Amino acid sequence: MNFDFATHIDRRQHPTKKWQQYDDDVLPLWIADMDFPSPPAVINALRARVDHGVFGYGGVPERLRQTLCDWSQHHYDWSIEADWQIWVPGVVPALNLAALAFSEPGQGVLTATPIYPPFLGVADNTGREAQTFALAEPETAADTWQLDVAALEAAIRPNTRVLLWCHPHNPTGRVWTPTALRQLGELAQRHDLIVVSDELHCDLILDPTQPHRPLGRVCPELAERLVTLWAPSKTFNIAGLSAACAIIADETLRRRFQRAASGLLPSVNVLGLSAAEAAYGEGEAWRQALLGVLRDNLALLQDHAAQWPDVSMSTPEATYLAWLDLRRSSLGMEAQQRLLAEARVALSDGADFGWPGFVRLNFGMPRGWLEEALQRLDRLLKA
Ligand SMILES: Cc1ncc(COP(=O)(O)O)c(C=O)c1O
Repeated sequence: MNFDFATHIDRRQHPTKKWQQYDDDVLPLWIADMDFPSPPAVINALRARVDHGVFGYGGVPERLRQTLCDWSQHHYDWSIEADWQIWVPGVVPALNLAALAFSEPGQGVLTATPIYPPFLGVADNTGREAQTFALAEPETAADTWQLDVAALEAAIRPNTRVLLWCHPHNPTGRVWTPTALRQLGELAQRHDLIVVSDELHCDLILDPTQPHRPLGRVCPELAERLVTLWAPSKTFNIAGLSAACAIIADETLRRRFQRAASGLLPSVNVLGLSAAEAAYGEGEAWRQALLGVLRDNLALLQDHAAQWPDVSMSTPEATYLAWLDLRRSSLGMEAQQRLLAEARVALSDGADFGWPGFVRLNFGMPRGWLEEALQRLDRLLKA
């Protein structure tokens, strides 16, 4: 079946963060959503739900729970159960709730940088102590970002309670190896941490040699201290429909999470639930086609980046995000602002991820727009 990944859809027809943050002549490659329409199966399911015409309080369909169990078994060989699933309106609210549920005010919430900025806001939002450690940067272009186990261990203090982990990793696109996950798991056990594994990007694997392995499958012994966060929102481009899932095997942990959510989180929007069910249940052919498009887009980006002598980029193994190091370039720490002002391309500023001098580039867009953006960047970055 042919799917449309080429049409330039005018997203300014509706209020759209990505396209309205900057002037109209700017090409936006910043916030993490894609400019593709969602899978036809999702659009049809939404149409059918809208045609029903009644939108009172809903509930999580048993079929959705079962569909996610099947998805997990089929793609990740991880057996999860229907009642482990707590559907929530977003992954970020779940990160914050986990801090509230599993730590006391003033205790430490630890995360590795660089990192998707809302991770860095969790401690402040919840009155906890922000604790960070740095990932090990690639030493050569062929190298990848690594978990620095010694840095992680050194960052764990007596008051550290919650470790927020991102797998696959935004912004580097790294899929963590079983070895790294086991090392992390061992430290979490030894220091009695609750681990929140944000696996939102797990269905967007670009490098087939680096399959996603859920932390909960690699380290089953973490079950009593693990919250896994999944959502169809990135993969099927339905972030605006607000449906995500916290997967918690341990009943006590689950109850604590639910208590923290109670009265604060609304139930999930009925349209988001219909979209999620269609995405996981019928979206696989579309997802496979999407992965082909994203791999081609990444190859195009790499062709251009190879001609940018002062820019390094380690190849993302997952996501539609690339993390570029411009610290050696003449644009320096102002790279994001200069590229916006002079190339009219909006990227995300590494400073927001805890690493100034880097930018994050979102290549989840039709090839025509990506080509245009890369040509604009060439003018500033090419030798
Ligand atoms: C790792 C990660 N977690 C969470 C989110 C946001 O999730 P939500 O919109 O469900 O809050 C993003 C969005 O880019 C993300 O990359």
